[in-house]
Amino acid sequence: MYVCVCNKVTDSQIRTACENGAHSMECLQRRLKVATCCGRCAECAQRMLNDATAARPDQQLHRVAA
Ligand code: FES
Repeated sequence: MYVCVCNKVTDSQIRTACENGAHSMECLQRRLKVATCCGRCAECAQRMLNDATAARPDQQLHRVAA
């Protein structure tokens, strides 16, 4: 499913980026360009990032409340 329509970024790509070390929205934006155009996907991408980092205790300092 597309999360970011503007940049054609899927939920699968976001999950993979998180598994490969993306730990902030800035990381996701650099790697995938998610939420760098209209921004409508930012909340969803942030939620996915929070869910991914919640499963990784070493990354919880980077979580942002959505
Ligand atoms: S839908 Fe992601 S920037 Fe527009």
